[in-house]
Amino acid sequence: MENKILTAVFISGKGTNLKKLIQLSKTKKSPIKICLIISSNSKAEGLKYSIKYKIKKYVIKKNDKDSEIKILKKLEINKISFICLAGYMRILSKKFIKNFKGKIINIHPSLLPKYKGLNTHRRVLENNELYTGCTVHFVSRKLDSGKIILQKKIKIYKKDNIKKLNKRVLLEEHKIYPKAILKIFS
Ligand code: GAR
Repeated sequence: MENKILTAVFISGKGTNLKKLIQLSKTKKSPIKICLIISSNSKAEGLKYSIKYKIKKYVIKKNDKDSEIKILKKLEINKISFICLAGYMRILSKKFIKNFKGKIINIHPSLLPKYKGLNTHRRVLENNELYTGCTVHFVSRKLDSGKIILQKKIKIYKKDNIKKLNKRVLLEEHKIYPKAILKIFS
């Protein structure tokens, strides 16, 4: 695909979803080209993909107005018009979201609108849910509440614990995140 949409991925941790998005971005059919990785954590494991795939990175640890202005500047310099949040553990300001209205998507490890916020697997298990899953959605001003793009439901087994659930849900995240991007631009 010519004229790919220049995209930034925001991370804070392992970056396994980032890796899958980069792999998509390297394919011919991909509508996006990942050219910037933003991390809120200088020790994020996912930053290794910046080296491996020669993608620019920008680490910004602080979480204040000034930091968002700096991020916006980086996005502008790199002509970014699409943002994928992939385990980014910061809440973007309303102003930032307005600036990129309809151009920010996120992956969340639950069947939204259920279990917004943190510690989803723990809460799902505590509530003896029969199913959980993951969701790719547009980012709106309310946390984990924007329009759903794709969702995958998985069964919870009696033997499941947080670690097992995290592993199985993450495997599904890796499948639906690239699919959701293809869906948006199809
Ligand atoms: C993923 O499970 C993602 O859904 C979750 O963080 C993990 C990041 O893993 N995101 C959130 O909880 C956002 N509220 P990764 O760094 O290996 O992609």
